[in-house]
Amino acid sequence: MATLRAECSLDMECPKEVVVWNYYDHEHVVGTHYKYYNRFRIIAERHDWCLVERFYKLPIIHLRASSMGLMFMESPNLIRSIQFGKLGLDLHQEIHLEDLGPERCRVTCVYTMEVPILVKPLEPLFRRVITQWFHDTWDEDAPMRIRRWKVWKLGFRDFRGLDYVNDKTAKPAGAGEKYRPYPMKLPVPKTPEAGRGASRPFDTSVEVGY
Ligand SMILES: [Fe+2]
Repeated sequence: MATLRAECSLDMECPKEVVVWNYYDHEHVVGTHYKYYNRFRIIAERHDWCLVERFYKLPIIHLRASSMGLMFMESPNLIRSIQFGKLGLDLHQEIHLEDLGPERCRVTCVYTMEVPILVKPLEPLFRRVITQWFHDTWDEDAPMRIRRWKVWKLGFRDFRGLDYVNDKTAKPAGAGEKYRPYPMKLPVPKTPEAGRGASRPFDTSVEVGY
């Protein structure tokens, strides 16, 4: 056997806890990443671990696939995800989260896959597919993460929003200026209609309102 390996790293303008929220927010994959994902189904979820089935299309090789994914937090700085593919190939992903300041972090993803030795020459293609996937989904996730961090600082609460906006009152003095730590609270809250599983709501879109 041989190991295929790929590594991608980028910095994010929000605390790492917001990135953790984003990784555990299964609902957004069929909306924000509608070009890649067409369905997800949560089999089980408790505390920081979850078992989720996902259906998607891989970039570059345009292969439709699905996998059962187990994800858990090995430490506050490391999410581990194992995607069990239908062909018996498992993709192991380490998501390393490093604080670069109170409102900034670095996300480094290391992907490995054990394959028969004859498949080793395909490692450059494996890296291209993984790297493209990482950057495309990053570009879609980043505005959502930054927006969430921004409204969190203004006092946002899940399924309630901002009280001063709901009440149509003036923004309280100092709102958004005081540092309000983002909690690492898992699992993340779900909507009753789509929280346990959903299909892609559209095939094409110019703007995704998540
Ligand atoms: Fe995402």
